[in-house]
Amino acid sequence: MNKNIIVTGGAGYIGSHTVVELLAQGYKPIIIDNFCNSEKSVLKGLEDITGKRIDLFEGDCTDKNFMTNVFAKTKPVGVIHFAAFKAVGESVEKPLAYYQNNVVSLLVLLEVMKKQNCKRLVFSSSCTVYGTPKKLPVTEQSPTQKAISPYGNTKQIAEDIIKDQVVANTGLSAVALRYFNPIGAHPSALIGELPLGIPSNLVPFVTQTAAGLRNELTIFGNDYNTPDGTNVRDYIHVVDLAKAHVKTLDYLYGKSNFYDFINIGTGTGTSVLEIVKTFEKVSNQKLNYTIGNRRAGDVDQIYASVDKSKEVLNWKTELSVEDALKDSWNWQLNLSH
Ligand code: NAD
Ligand code: WQD
Repeated sequence: MNKNIIVTGGAGYIGSHTVVELLAQGYKPIIIDNFCNSEKSVLKGLEDITGKRIDLFEGDCTDKNFMTNVFAKTKPVGVIHFAAFKAVGESVEKPLAYYQNNVVSLLVLLEVMKKQNCKRLVFSSSCTVYGTPKKLPVTEQSPTQKAISPYGNTKQIAEDIIKDQVVANTGLSAVALRYFNPIGAHPSALIGELPLGIPSNLVPFVTQTAAGLRNELTIFGNDYNTPDGTNVRDYIHVVDLAKAHVKTLDYLYGKSNFYDFINIGTGTGTSVLEIVKTFEKVSNQKLNYTIGNRRAGDVDQIYASVDKSKEVLNWKTELSVEDALKDSWNWQLNLSH
């Protein structure tokens, strides 16, 4: 049976961990990546973890000829579409680059999927679509809010485009997974997050500070309306997140003209200070940190309702924030050597 799955952005942070889990479940992942935010060394990590050769097509998802050729050659039965730009701040400075990469890649992908009769799609969306939620935990019934960054807007537009393509009776079945905050690395420490430049996300900044690459972490505000005053987020281990994609592909089998969106989180909120304290515990390091001003655009707190993911995907997280921070630290140590 054909188990070929195209993984766009498969050399990236979440994509690479998903490739491991796809292989573990008998799928045959085929990576498409242009390495604009990843490195080829990821492939060696993947091959060392899985003991298998990884199929890769190097190219750009916005290039229709390239995409058509890959689909014609590999005849995939499904696609997981990770490829996108993802830095919220950068998207405010370079909106056109974000719309071009994130929206055009999806348009090209959907057109090629239709022409090549590939009918299953898992799309990387984000909890950013909920904006500042009025009620917690955030369920899939919670309203989406107008995005405050071009990045967030590309996720909302993408969800609408996919839904419209399903309404058009193309036979497509698709699920948008709305991830909360992915952290951690593979427990082997052979793959993980590779932030280019100064990380804007919390956990890479924490591990780089502990490794001596940054002087100190600034906690962006401790006067929020939360138990300890710092922001609360739902941090999910990237290996759990990767497994959710495989479950979603399984879920899409046998469905046609189907669209849904599902939260992917742990259901538990953790504050920035709790992350710092837990990191200190698991790494046995004292972290140099200071309290600074609030960062523009940060919501007080957000965490997922996980009822729907449990019910429809038969999936829930198995790993803790402690596990994730331990794995992130081991990955950082591996990178620094
Ligand atoms: P990442 O940058 O590590 O991975 C993305 C990969 O896509 C990279 O390898 C990059 O080289 C590739 N890529 C980008 N544009 C491409 C193009 N046009 N053609 C071919 N390859 C291209 O990012 P990630 O953290 O793994 O995120 C994956 C997806 O999940 C993205 O869509 C992102 O928006 C979404 N997401 C990420 C987070 C997060 O915090 N990491 C949270 C919610 C949603
Ligand atoms: C987490 C917390 C910061 C850095 C982002 C995107 C979101 C989604 C996930 C893609 C916040 C605090 C951070 C630092 C800090 N991505 N922080 N000092 O902002 O929750 O979500 O990634 O879809 O769309 O917005 O994640 O890791 O940047 O921040 O105090 O140096 O850590 O204020 O409370 P965020 P983050």
